[in-house]
Amino acid sequence: MSVAKLIVGNWKMNGLLDDSRTRAQELADAARNHKSADFEMVLCPPAPLIAMVGDIVKDTDIKWGAQDCHEQVSGAHTGDISAQMLKDLGCSYVILGHSERRQNHGETSAQVNAKAQAAQAAGLIAIICIGETDAQRSAGKADEVVTEQLRASVPETATPENTVIAYEPIWAIGTGKTASADDIRHMHALIRAKASEKVKNGAWLKLLYGGSVKQGNAGEILHIANVDGVLVGGASLKSGEFWGIAQASAEGKALSA
Ligand code: 13P
Repeated sequence: MSVAKLIVGNWKMNGLLDDSRTRAQELADAARNHKSADFEMVLCPPAPLIAMVGDIVKDTDIKWGAQDCHEQVSGAHTGDISAQMLKDLGCSYVILGHSERRQNHGETSAQVNAKAQAAQAAGLIAIICIGETDAQRSAGKADEVVTEQLRASVPETATPENTVIAYEPIWAIGTGKTASADDIRHMHALIRAKASEKVKNGAWLKLLYGGSVKQGNAGEILHIANVDGVLVGGASLKSGEFWGIAQASAEGKALSA
């Protein structure tokens, strides 16, 4: 199992053909010129851009993925996209249960669980997102909420090869407020312990932190115990900044050595 840090860019609903092409080309050039065993980079563009982005980065070490999939293989599901379709487009990963989907589309942990099974069955790696709201944290319920989301969202079929878990405290997403190193350390240790009860070889499961990660804080975050990578929103839209975040994996390695 690789110890490379997983650096995932979630472009969310941002980008048109031109700017996305440029961003993907800049990252592909960087990846060609600076091969690194310290990280694996994944780009998750909006669905209409996946094919183009995949085509641009396919001859590099950069992988690509999607931001959601449906739990069924095919059928009468207008507007939805199946895991098989994503696999067909060369995707390796799919983000599932992001808080924006849970909040804006009413996605439940049971649905996320079903989607993760569909993703795994199609040969994709499911990046399952969990995280508490500000109100839940203030009420002292962060551990309870995250533990329950983990229990209900991660399927029995999960293995370190087909599943990644991303801890994204909702109050830290797009706010510039990053969770403290102590909070991240605590929550990732909890997630590791709980996930290991359910997933065989859970010690190898990749756990990502997400929420206002940028070049300036990535080195510190990637150095925290049980942080195997980061899920980046806003800062993944600037190729130089995102590449800088990936470069910080080497910094993290040096610090923890
Ligand atoms: P920001 O990096 O913009 O805070 O977004 C985090 C996120 O939601 C990634 O999935």
